[in-house]
Amino acid sequence: MGDMSDIRNIVILTGAGVSAESGIDTFRSGTDGAPSLWEQHRVEDVATPEGFARDPDLVLRFYDMRREAIQTKQPNPAHHALAKLDAEWRGELLIVTQNVDDLHERAGARRVLHMHGEHLNAWCTTCDTRSRWTGPLIDRPACPACEARALRPDVVWFGEMPYRMDEIYAALRRADLFVSIGTSGAVYPAAGFVRDARSLGAKTLELNLERSQGSGWFDETRLGPASNLVPGWVDEVLGG
Ligand code: OAD
Repeated sequence: MGDMSDIRNIVILTGAGVSAESGIDTFRSGTDGAPSLWEQHRVEDVATPEGFARDPDLVLRFYDMRREAIQTKQPNPAHHALAKLDAEWRGELLIVTQNVDDLHERAGARRVLHMHGEHLNAWCTTCDTRSRWTGPLIDRPACPACEARALRPDVVWFGEMPYRMDEIYAALRRADLFVSIGTSGAVYPAAGFVRDARSLGAKTLELNLERSQGSGWFDETRLGPASNLVPGWVDEVLGG
């Protein structure tokens, strides 16, 4: 990234590519020829409020499987490198993740914001409480707060507003460097952050297996697997 001396505040956007090498399917481009998640399931069926209203059992089963699966996966070198950066970087840093897994946290990162929600949370549509949830939802368990049997996955579906956008834009306004890692740039508003950051004066860097849709907006693009690119970049930033 060249000279880092004028960089103090960093915003990092991560996507499914960061977790791909942990064995979690990406949404759009399958790894090693395997079909991607949205090739195996219709988005309208499993990731929209309308799909949930139509067939809640299908949706709950889908997320129960995903919730169970992520708990068997481990963070990879990309997650560990970002956790190291979080621990050692003295300036502001925010990891905005579109991922609903908890691999950033399990690697030890603390400054993480889940803009698309979390698999390991259940959201009560009766009392609005979010509870840590590791088991299934298909049997309609009671909400720990109000006992209503109205829990849904705390995952942002298409047509719903991503979480904590005010905090994200505030961080983008202060950012000197915006880094996008392992995301295809297909889903807004996250796909627009590079343009926002750039117009607000930040340097922009993309680390991805292949060019994202908004690749032209980045000052620099590095192509390769996250487990290789991210540790290398973090060492550069920390001067190691
Ligand atoms: P995508 O599946 O759209 O894109 C994954 C990106 O990761 C692609 O650009 C791949 O080239 C890249 N990639 C794959 N393997 C990689 C590796 N080993 N190292 C580095 N990069 C790799 O996933 P997202 O961009 O995260 O939203 O998708 C954005 C949102 O769309 C998701 O949060 C989800 C989805 O629908 C919701 O469900 C609301």
